[in-house]
Amino acid sequence: MTEREINIAVDGHSSTGKSTLARQLAERLRYRYIDTGAMYRAVTLYALNAGMAGEGKVDEKSLVAALPEINIDFDAAHGGNHTLLNGVNVEGEIRAMQVSNHVSHVAKIAEVRKKLRELQQEAAGKGGVVMDGRDIGSAVLPDAELKIFMTADPEVRTERRYIELQAKGNPATRAAVRENIAERDRIDTGRKENPLVRVPEARLLDNSSLTPEEQLEIAARWAREVRSGLKEA
Ligand code: DC
Repeated sequence: MTEREINIAVDGHSSTGKSTLARQLAERLRYRYIDTGAMYRAVTLYALNAGMAGEGKVDEKSLVAALPEINIDFDAAHGGNHTLLNGVNVEGEIRAMQVSNHVSHVAKIAEVRKKLRELQQEAAGKGGVVMDGRDIGSAVLPDAELKIFMTADPEVRTERRYIELQAKGNPATRAAVRENIAERDRIDTGRKENPLVRVPEARLLDNSSLTPEEQLEIAARWAREVRSGLKEA
């Protein structure tokens, strides 16, 4: 008996720990982890560096015209977990508040979404992938065998992101973090192009009072259930 390699979609609100869960789950299953938020962040960093974004605004026309010049990849040297923008490791820079403040505006652009969706689908083509984002279960991998939708209390999310930013030396006040999370939720769920939605088949994971270990155990159990249901004789 062999177990088929499934694809796992992890969607949910901002700062709910999707990437922590998705990365740990991928490690546990020996699957590949793909952080699609990092891809949107890398395009945003490009736009900021090129003067196509700033002060909460994005010059859509210039960014769409520049899309063929933007190459996004993941660094094999770091287990495939670091984001490369035109060959440069930008894993640290893409987490800065300046990027967070513009990324939802970039992620609204249909052409940006199309380009990144194609890259994401190509990466998941053979299965064995855990991919996190906002539209993975609904648009990128609608056939994913396991779909997880993550949420958590906004105050818990604010505190977690605040601590994470402090630890990385990215200064931001709690109020600014709270505001950014609320604003991203609003834009992500309200946009026309592939908004954040919980598809009916997605399993809900509210981790407001769960530790990373506890949420991993829940998700790993779901993965086991799905995989054993798909066992081939
Ligand atoms: O997961 P994250 O916070 O790093 O994502 C950054 C932004 O990118 C988020 O505000 C919404 C957008 N995003 C998206 O629109 N679709 C995805 N699949 C992943 C992220």
